[in-house]
Formats: sequence, structure tokens, C-alpha cells
Amino acid sequence: MKLQVFDNYDQVSRRAAEIVIEESRKHPQLVLGLATGSTPIGLYREMVQVYQRGQLDFSEATTFNLDEYYPITPDHPQSFRRFMQEHLFDHVNIAPERIHFLSGTAADVESECSRYEAAIEAAGGIDIQVLGIGENGHIGFNEPGTPFHLKTHKVALTENTIQANSRFFERIEDVPRHALTMGISSIMRSRKILLLASGEKKAEAIKAALQGPVTEELPASVLQLHPDVTVMVDKTAATQLEGVPYKA
Ligand code: PGA
Repeated sequence: MKLQVFDNYDQVSRRAAEIVIEESRKHPQLVLGLATGSTPIGLYREMVQVYQRGQLDFSEATTFNLDEYYPITPDHPQSFRRFMQEHLFDHVNIAPERIHFLSGTAADVESECSRYEAAIEAAGGIDIQVLGIGENGHIGFNEPGTPFHLKTHKVALTENTIQANSRFFERIEDVPRHALTMGISSIMRSRKILLLASGEKKAEAIKAALQGPVTEELPASVLQLHPDVTVMVDKTAATQLEGVPYKA
């Protein structure tokens, strides 16, 4: 894993955007794996700004989002689909038919998950997968204890994740208790992975992911086994790392 520590969140976002944009210039048919949450908002903001300056063309790109609550309608204010529309899709020229999302309203969850895996495969696999990390080390909605071999599947959210995500909902009871998520094995098949983290709350998970044992108890630790992962963090998220000279 390559580690890059930046002074602040904006620098993490800018550098992550540069990587995505460089790749998309080299390869306009880029297949991008995208994440939701607070962490990638700065990356999307940068991408939108570069697009608005006329320096980015996403007309041939394809996207796959990592996860979606279940059940939830796509137009629900807290759906991940809505989040992506607001932060990225409404502002750049990604073709709607090349935006892929897990459906939070699918009646048959198993066939929805297989449909998604097949769509990723049909697109030629994911070139760059953007990931945040949960305070408990989750990636996507793969909570601690998720077997590494799972592909896209339905999960029950942990109390920790429900608490963390309740900040976006009026009441904690409104947070859906389940989600559909790409599995660890789906994520690990991406050719390149960018793991982003910012803030002290993520410092322990970052330390465990990078320097702890590879264990299903800390899902992000699996990334130690991937050949091309760049971990981009601000210095507050790097405070627990050993042997990293750059300290907050
Ligand atoms: P956050 O969430 O970016 O909102 O902190 C990351 C995650 O839980 O994966």
C-alpha cells in the first residue's frame, strides 16, 4: 500500500481528484467505483470544478457505486443515489445509462446482487475504486466479520454504523437497518484502489487497516493484499500510524 499524508482534507481531495482526472484523460472509458459519505465530497467538488473549467470530459466514463441502503427509494433525501446526484452526477457529463447503482427497492435481493456483479463484469471491471473507511474499519457496508470472499450482498448495519449515519437523518429510527453492498471480493477485483480518510475519528481504523493483522474483523485490512492501493489521509487521520514522520 502506498501511503500519502497531507496537511488537510482539501489537499487529500485535490490529489485524489488529480489521480481520477489523470486516469480519465489517459483512458476516457474509465470505469469508476464511487463511494458516498462525508469523505469523498471534496473529491467530487474538485471533479465538478475541473469539469466546469472545461478540463474534464466524462461522456465515456462508467460508474458503479459501492452501496445503497435497503430498503430506500432512489429519490429519498438520504439515499446514496440522491447523494451522488447532488454531489457529482447532476454537475458533470456522465451518461445516465452508464451510472450504475444497487437498487434499494429491489424485490428480489439475490438477483439484484447478481445483476450488479454481472454489470461490473460486462463493463470490463472497475479501473479505480474510491473508498472511505468506517470508524470500525468497514469498507462499503462490509462490516467487521464479513467474509472476505463475499461478492455483492445484503447486510445488516451494525449499531456503530447506524449511529454514525444517523447524523444525516432526522431521527435515528429513520436510518435503514440494512443495505446492499459490493462485497470485499468485488472491491478487491478493482484494478486500482484509492482509500481516503480524514479526521482523528478515523486514525485508529487507518492504523489497524495499514499496520494491523489482515483480519475479517477489520475489513479494510484486506487491502494489504491488493497490489495497487493508495491510501490518502490528512495528518489527523495519520496520528496513530507508527513510523510515519508526518504527525499532527
Ligand atoms: P464518512 O463514511 O466518509 O462519512 O466518514 C465513511 C464510511 O463509513 O465508509
